[in-house]
Amino acid sequence: MRHQYHPLGFDGSRIAQGFWRLQEWNMTSSETLGFIEACLDLGVTTLDHADIYGGYQCEALFGEALKHKPALRDKMEIVTKCGILLPSESRPEIRVHRYDYRAEHILASVDRSLANLQCEYIDTLLLHRPSPLMDADEIAQAFDLLFTLGKVKHFGVSNFTTHQFDLLQSRLDAPLIVNQVELSPLALQHFEDGTLDHLQQHAVTPMAWSPFAGGELFSGSNEKAKRVQMVLGELAQQNNCTVDQIVVAWLLRHPSGICPVMGSGKVERLAMAVDALSIPLSDDDWFRIWVASKGQPVP
Ligand SMILES: NC(=O)c1ccc[n+]([C@@H]2O[C@H](COP(=O)([O-])OP(=O)(O)OC[C@H]3O[C@@H](n4cnc5c(N)ncnc54)[C@H](OP(=O)(O)O)[C@@H]3O)[C@@H](O)[C@H]2O)c1
Repeated sequence: MRHQYHPLGFDGSRIAQGFWRLQEWNMTSSETLGFIEACLDLGVTTLDHADIYGGYQCEALFGEALKHKPALRDKMEIVTKCGILLPSESRPEIRVHRYDYRAEHILASVDRSLANLQCEYIDTLLLHRPSPLMDADEIAQAFDLLFTLGKVKHFGVSNFTTHQFDLLQSRLDAPLIVNQVELSPLALQHFEDGTLDHLQQHAVTPMAWSPFAGGELFSGSNEKAKRVQMVLGELAQQNNCTVDQIVVAWLLRHPSGICPVMGSGKVERLAMAVDALSIPLSDDDWFRIWVASKGQPVP
């Protein structure tokens, strides 16, 4: 079953699955394929990658699995990213951890991603992190070429400020459709710095990375994490659901149409997140989580 499209510009599933940790899951190729199929069966068709995940290995692990059932390709939307250079064993030519948004790098990165993912096209390409050296005109030329060649259908960004987003958008004919940023009950910054307001204004989908704060929501031991864990536990009990589901419902409640990118490799955890689509969180409960994270009442 496929869930409703986002109300806004992004033609993906309401909840996405991330593959940053794919290497850590230690899956065989057929287990990875099984996991991909389980995602699709749950209606989670938007699958999030980046060239650098797993030291540049995760896209290839995914591609190896997909190779066994290429017909699955058109049932999913692949998001991947470019622009971070990460020194690693598999890329000895990279000596400095930095960013690169020269057209030459963007084009080469997409070609590598396509080869690794064993795909003909990428649904959405994101610029992974903003760089002080980004030249919006040069990026626009690279995007035009990738689109014309049929290698990328849509473009977006990640971790961009509103100004960086607007600058790039000002040079593009087609709209950027995503800004993927950190959003969770432990990461409120982008709820308040104008990022979500700006995305809502322009009907651009926010994708939330690390929606469980990379697991800190369950295991964090600082005061803020403990306050939030206590409220989440109470709300899960009251609503007869799990803490995971309360967190997903909390993100989904936001009017900007946040698409949480889930990070676990356990199908049962993804299934729980999908079930949260039918859990309406009251505004009272939403603000209890907000206040617990802030550590003080709203003004
Ligand atoms: N654009 C960016 O800059 C950026 C940055 C970071 C991530 N991302 C994307 O966002 C995706 C998600 O990030 P993330 O992996 O940090 O997401 P996350 O969902 O916040 O964290 C996943 C971690 O939480 C643990 N976890 C999940 N449910 C749990 C539970 N009920 N109890 C205990 N632990 C639990 C998982 O452990 P188990 O594996 O044991 O379930 C895993 O270690 C990534 O895969 C990537 O696609 C993007």
